[in-house]
Amino acid sequence: MASAARTFTRAASRTRPSSSSFRLAAHNSFTRSSRRGYASEPGSVKSNRNILLGAGAIAAAGATGFYFYNKKDVHMIKGSSDETQGIFKATKEDYQKVYDEIARLLVDKDDYDDGSYGPVLVRLAWHASGTYDAATNTGGSNGATMRFAPEGDHGANAGLKHARDFLEPVKEKFPWISYSDLWTLAGVCAIQEMQGPIIPWRPGRQDRDVAFCTPDGRLPDASKDQNHIRAIFGRMGFDDREMVALSGAHSLGRCHTDRSGYDGPWAFSPTVVTNEYFRLLLDEKWGWKKWNGPAQYEDQSTKSLMMLPTDMALIKDKEFKKHVERYAKDSQVFFKEFSDVIVKLLELGVPFESKPEDRISFKVSDD
Ligand code: HEM
Repeated sequence: MASAARTFTRAASRTRPSSSSFRLAAHNSFTRSSRRGYASEPGSVKSNRNILLGAGAIAAAGATGFYFYNKKDVHMIKGSSDETQGIFKATKEDYQKVYDEIARLLVDKDDYDDGSYGPVLVRLAWHASGTYDAATNTGGSNGATMRFAPEGDHGANAGLKHARDFLEPVKEKFPWISYSDLWTLAGVCAIQEMQGPIIPWRPGRQDRDVAFCTPDGRLPDASKDQNHIRAIFGRMGFDDREMVALSGAHSLGRCHTDRSGYDGPWAFSPTVVTNEYFRLLLDEKWGWKKWNGPAQYEDQSTKSLMMLPTDMALIKDKEFKKHVERYAKDSQVFFKEFSDVIVKLLELGVPFESKPEDRISFKVSDD
């Protein structure tokens, strides 16, 4: 199944040489223009065997510090390039190592869906972040509360266990990283490794306990219309343009009948970030799929692609459609605005001690 799907993906990209070389060119040029150096080195924390991990020391080390401590001694931190004793503060190189490990596993574990866990990792990062409520400053990626049953079992999160389990060996190898940082970093890695734009990222999220789980109903319902999209994403603090840019993530992955109930991919190359979703929305003829499942659209020419009612709302609504047209026309504009809005999404509600200019631009594999 997976290899058949992979062949489909590859064949599909082969039949579209012009758009794919355009995409590559666009990617490279955006990558070059947007890539910047790493954040300035966080101050290293001196090792001290006898250090007492009191509240003062913890506060001084900042949110990214990891405290590996047992009753008698302070231990070396596994997986750090800067192995030290006492309080450990990860450097940009440490985070790059985590990135590289996820990228390696993405290549290694290709017997899944269309040949990549990338799309489901993007979905995990988005669902961890998309619970944010600006009015109460609750939810968001800080906390990784989807680890706990109440939130993990929300209907919208069906299937994300695949992504969380995929990342478990990474967490074991780099125990100093919080799940909340790991899940968002994995989303960044997946987008970049699937030829998307560079997504500058910074650490600083801390895992929280079950009491911080968000109530069900904060994530969007695909059967709804533009009013629902504006209500859900407006609650997080996004405007129309950003809502459309975020939706471009549906160039990736697919719907699964055993998860959401919907079925099929949105685009012909579901493991590559492109603006194809917007082009298909405008160029294809879409009709209701005749089947025994939830109401969804299918393309009339191949009947192999799908759109959700919320996807179609982006061309039914005049204000949304303007942005669909902009992104369909210019892949570089989409890449730039997609990168900006993903940065914003992954940082919603996170009480960073670092500054925006401290963000890390990870090096892409084989770059
Ligand atoms: C109105 C807003 C949205 C709705 C209603 C929606 C709904 C859905 C649904 C129903 C699925 C299929 C899940 C499954 O059956 O496995 C899905 C998949 C996906 N969504 Fe969204 N989504 C929305 C916005 C977003 C955003 C903002 C992102 C990321 C920035 C995103 C990224 C993805 C990805 C990558 C997948 C594919 C996952 C996979 O292949 O396993 N979606 N979405």
